[in-house]
Amino acid sequence: MKIVYLEKTEIEKEIAQVFIDEIKKNPSCVLGFATGSSPLGIYKNLIDANKKGEVSFKNVTSFNLDEYIGLNENNDQSYRYYMNNNFFKYIDIDIKNTHVPSAFVKTNEEAQKYDEMIKKMGGIDVQLLGLGSDGHIAFNEPGTSFDSLTHIVDLTEQTIKDNSRFFNRIEDVPTQACTMGLKSIMNAKKVVLIATGKSKKGVIDRLVKGEFSEDLPVSILEKHDNATIYVDKELK
Ligand code: GLP
Repeated sequence: MKIVYLEKTEIEKEIAQVFIDEIKKNPSCVLGFATGSSPLGIYKNLIDANKKGEVSFKNVTSFNLDEYIGLNENNDQSYRYYMNNNFFKYIDIDIKNTHVPSAFVKTNEEAQKYDEMIKKMGGIDVQLLGLGSDGHIAFNEPGTSFDSLTHIVDLTEQTIKDNSRFFNRIEDVPTQACTMGLKSIMNAKKVVLIATGKSKKGVIDRLVKGEFSEDLPVSILEKHDNATIYVDKELK
């Protein structure tokens, strides 16, 4: 794992370039996408590159990290809605090749079919991650097993509070999600994480100090041999 400090706009450009390079190397690659506010600038760069004809997503397959339980794709807070409306509708990806975990799985056994689908496609070539202020990646909250595959999770109070900024009322934030697990994420061949915003400082400090524990889910990336954490210079 490598930590790189850059300006936010530089991070967005660099990560977009990682995806562009991957697609140029293998136009049928499998990409892992994330939601939240941090990736929006990356998607904007990719949309621009696609519009300019610099890169095509025609043969790309994508898998998203997570989805709120109970929100269907027409709900503007669902992650499927986010992906369609912030990214997919502006690029030439075939929507049939885009995947988001189901909001309606009832058991972990059902949820794990997502890992099987990813495996069938040959695994994720580049996985994008954001970071929760409690150190979560995807929706793997502190205490999640490092061996976890896609599963249903109860969101922590902190995450519900953090994410309530996108909802009308905190009561509207779903209390559960279906998320790729930490092991699912570690299976990606390359991982790029964007950490911007002051609320991430505490978690980044713990990571820099070398903390490695299930209490800090992002710390699993210390064991990944091709993971880069891009941190906003302001958090140094
Ligand atoms: C949610 C998502 C995470 C994301 C996090 C940070 O909890 N499940 O995948 O990393 O938000 O979001 P933001 O980028 O808005 O800070």
